[in-house]
Amino acid sequence: MNAILSTLQTGFTRQFLRYEDQRASSSTANTTGGLVRLRGFTRRFGDNAIIEGLDLDIAPGEFVSLLGRSGSGKTTLLRTLAGLDSAEGQDVTIPQTRAVVFQDARLLPWKRVWRNVALGLRGSDVRQRAEAALREVGLDHRLDAWPLTLSGGESQRVALARALVREPQLLLMDEPFAALDALTRFRVHELVLRLWSVHRPSVMLVTHDVDEAIKLSDRVLVLDKGRIVAEERITAPRGEREILTVELREALLSKLGTGRIEDDADIAAVFDDKPNIPF
Ligand SMILES: Nc1ncnc2c1ncn2[C@@H]1O[C@H](COP(=O)(O)OP(=O)(O)OP(=O)(O)O)[C@@H](O)[C@H]1O
Ligand SMILES: [Mg+2]
Repeated sequence: MNAILSTLQTGFTRQFLRYEDQRASSSTANTTGGLVRLRGFTRRFGDNAIIEGLDLDIAPGEFVSLLGRSGSGKTTLLRTLAGLDSAEGQDVTIPQTRAVVFQDARLLPWKRVWRNVALGLRGSDVRQRAEAALREVGLDHRLDAWPLTLSGGESQRVALARALVREPQLLLMDEPFAALDALTRFRVHELVLRLWSVHRPSVMLVTHDVDEAIKLSDRVLVLDKGRIVAEERITAPRGEREILTVELREALLSKLGTGRIEDDADIAAVFDDKPNIPF
């Protein structure tokens, strides 16, 4: 039994590290000029081109949000920026240190909170670094807690601490706030902005929430069928964007093509390739 558990844990930890240890081994790593640079990037699964001929630049310290309907290729792009998927042979430049925060915090339940943050770090000051990061996200009183005793918002704050303790040049977040209630989400937004202003990583935030994108970002991109179909740069100071929101929101929503489902034919089209959805 213990052997099985240990094998499972080792497998899980290995997978976790594959996702979370963001030191680049890729030949694409580069820290000069724009932090991220993609030219004509294409990603296929079989015959299916998910992303095609995509150009993207992200400047050092820039906060970029990526909107797009489900299946438009957001996670696929994020995985490439994270170095999780190979971009061999393509014109892709990503920085050497990256960290990813996913929608679920992906904490190892058998490791205490501070050890989750310290995972993969080396050195004699690992505990202090983990503590400092947890202090930054307001969780220094939960250092020795087990992950399963944390709320959703607390778990995401631990995931943020785990990302930031690595001082990434590029912080990638894939719908990290989607499962949080409105008030917690608001608080985590404030926290993310504070951490970003202190550490100044470049950020790529994948979200379905247009208001969130407008509130947090320097630039909002809309991805559709593997191409960037809209780009809005927002120069108004954060906190003074309410007035902008209505117009910009409409513009982005129209590009998202979320629209309304008008009639039964549209509904049938939505479920066309998913005949076995249980209601
Ligand atoms: N490993 C894979 N093998 C085959 N197809 C894949 C693979 N990964 C993703 N896809 C397909 O690529 C398309 C884009 O997927 P992706 O996860 O990037 O979408 P997304 O924009 O993140 O969607 P969502 O908003 O639902 O998270 C989808 O059609 C998906 O089925
Ligand atoms: Mg996704």
